[in-house]
Amino acid sequence: MHLLSLDSVSRDFDVSRPWLNRVLEREPRRILRAVDHVSFEISKGETLALVGESGCGKSTVARLIAGLYAPTEGHIAFSGSRLQMIFQDPYASLNPRWRVRKIIAEPMLFLKVQRPVEQFLLQVGLSADDAERYPHEFSGGQRQRISIARALAGEPDLLICDEPTSALDVSVQAQILNLMADLQDRLGLTYLFISHNLAVVSLVADRVGVMYLGRIVELAPASRLFSSPRHPYTRMLLDAVPDLAMSGKSRTPVAGEVPNPLAPPSGSASTRAARTRTHAARSRCPASATASPATPSKKAAFLSDRGKGGQDPFLQKGAGSLWVERDPRKRVKRGVRPFFQEKGPDPFS
Ligand SMILES: Nc1ncnc2c1ncn2[C@@H]1O[C@H](COP(=O)(O)OP(=O)(O)OP(=O)(O)O)[C@@H](O)[C@H]1O
Ligand SMILES: [Mg+2]
Repeated sequence: MHLLSLDSVSRDFDVSRPWLNRVLEREPRRILRAVDHVSFEISKGETLALVGESGCGKSTVARLIAGLYAPTEGHIAFSGSRLQMIFQDPYASLNPRWRVRKIIAEPMLFLKVQRPVEQFLLQVGLSADDAERYPHEFSGGQRQRISIARALAGEPDLLICDEPTSALDVSVQAQILNLMADLQDRLGLTYLFISHNLAVVSLVADRVGVMYLGRIVELAPASRLFSSPRHPYTRMLLDAVPDLAMSGKSRTPVAGEVPNPLAPPSGSASTRAARTRTHAARSRCPASATASPATPSKKAAFLSDRGKGGQDPFLQKGAGSLWVERDPRKRVKRGVRPFFQEKGPDPFS
């Protein structure tokens, strides 16, 4: 039994101009699909990370799960009784007029339980005296600790962390990530961890879902996703991560623009990614996108070639620093499909 499961959840926003403008200028309604048929499950005690570029719909997924938005389509099932959110901005998410004691006690009022606030402060590495101080007296990292203490006070079954470390200095990020991992071990917490930073995700996640334009394009255990990413978009993101291990691997910045979600490029999620990042990608995926899996030997060649020089044999270097697809149809023949899920059929076998 999963703690949380999302079944083909979508969410549209109506971003049309006012009625009178539309009538006078004969404009149709404009609907933005922020989340597009997203499905995943989270089991108790696990950390699932969602990664993707700005605007791909990560926070909308979080708000759908928290019940702040209703899904336009699909179904969300949560078998726990409480969930809590930790937000990106530790400055804006704490009430500046309340002392820390009141901030942390607030979820307990709702639960009608009384536990000492100091206990939660010590759990997150703050001191008992901090209960009498105001949020502005703390640094960003300390404020995020207060946010975590407040979340813990709500005794959550699931913690949704929406970019919890993005506003923090790198060294403080590491402290907060360590704290979250430590709390997970001690209290058996379950996290949905949202980030745009693959390096951060690699430290915390058991499984990773990569989002692009509202869709999950690849969902796999973290070790598999980082060692042999299958989707071109995942590879693109991974190639852009700075090489801190100094292994000599070249870094390829993600090229092109994030497309406008109001006018998404046509084609499957894989060619959409390619269209906005490369010159030569085609406008539509061939109809056979889900057919023709490759033979195992091709898979081996594919992965080993990639391992040698970080080069994908199906991509060639184009003008500037862009990777262009020589023939997208070839890629499809080799079984790259718009969505890869670990438990689904392996497109390469
Ligand atoms: N309430 C809303 N009304 C209209 N459009 C919205 C609303 N909330 C989100 N969107 C749109 O949905 C898309 C996804 O937004 P979302 O905040 O989920 O992105 P994100 O992946 O969290 O980005 P970031 O990494 O920058 O936080 C964006 O194009 C955004 O403009
Ligand atoms: Mg967001």
